[in-house]
Amino acid sequence: MNELRTVAKEFIQLCYRELGKSREEIELRHQEIEKSIEHTGTYKHTAEELTYGAKLAWRNSNRCIGRLFWEQLTVIDKRNIENEEEMLAALIDHIIYATNEGRIRPTITIFPQKEKNQAFRIWNHQLIRYAGYDSEKGIVGDPHSAAFTKECIQLGWKPKYGMYDVLPIVVQINNQTPKWREVPHELVKEIEIEHPEFSEFRDLNLKWYGVPIISEMKLEIGGIEYSAAPFNGWYMGTEIGARNLADIERYNVLPQVAELLELNTKTNATLWKDRALVELNAAVLYSYKKTGVSIVDHHTAAKQFKRFEEIEADQKREVTGDWTWLIPPISPASTHIFHSSYDNKIKKPNYFYQKAPY
Ligand code: ARG
Repeated sequence: MNELRTVAKEFIQLCYRELGKSREEIELRHQEIEKSIEHTGTYKHTAEELTYGAKLAWRNSNRCIGRLFWEQLTVIDKRNIENEEEMLAALIDHIIYATNEGRIRPTITIFPQKEKNQAFRIWNHQLIRYAGYDSEKGIVGDPHSAAFTKECIQLGWKPKYGMYDVLPIVVQINNQTPKWREVPHELVKEIEIEHPEFSEFRDLNLKWYGVPIISEMKLEIGGIEYSAAPFNGWYMGTEIGARNLADIERYNVLPQVAELLELNTKTNATLWKDRALVELNAAVLYSYKKTGVSIVDHHTAAKQFKRFEEIEADQKREVTGDWTWLIPPISPASTHIFHSSYDNKIKKPNYFYQKAPY
């Protein structure tokens, strides 16, 4: 509890200073929080603290290259929610608001904070994600979803055994039975991947969804934990073209792409993997643009990150970062990030992994 006092105080200092509040206001709020912790063991953020705290957590996310836009986060305060039905409805609303017909809005929805005997959880890794099914010939769909897909089936969701089946949303409050709901098909923006020059690319039947909404992490602000606080930005193309579709343990499509491009795959030295990667990534960017769904290429994203670093330096704030995550998975050395080093110290507020609920 003493620790909570200290962390809360630190957060209020930082938050209120950056918001331009007076020493009196800071002192008043400190006292209020002290009293609340004394009487209840915890405290509640004002709407303003919650909003700014969530933005600070983004600014402090060492692995994120997209942090230039931290102030533009839309914060949806759903701390008044009381049951699973309301929670599921709020998550559907998040998808609609964030998707915005393709002009993606960085958004976070925040559910009630963790308490001694209260925890709100979302079981999904992302609100929109493709299922992965065990089969004799290996996993069908996204291997990354294999364990969660099993859970969904156990909860009564009917498997479809396709390559791109959107999983249902599963939520749980405390130790109650988890509740799930299918995301209405028309709300899921999806992008079929085609190539600007090679029309046969379409025949690979590759696609991906528009909005990555991370839903398994907790948000920590001033010692308070929000165990359900799904957030999204827009994709950087390489996340899809160089990882989700390309990784051997994911969709593993490079051999198919190479065949279509008639590359010689008999020897590594033709660089067939690299050439397939580049064309696949060009196709991803082209298709998202064509469909009118926000996306950023890694060169532009790196430039935006440079801008972020400059602004932070101007503000006399240190930028922390995780180099291994900040460099893009293709042509990393063509960005300034590769040639820089970053301190991977964890600043709070921030987003953290938490133990899987299943
Ligand atoms: N890398 C994850 C994926 O491919 C998404 C992580 C968040 N990405 C983002 N652009 N906000 O699904």
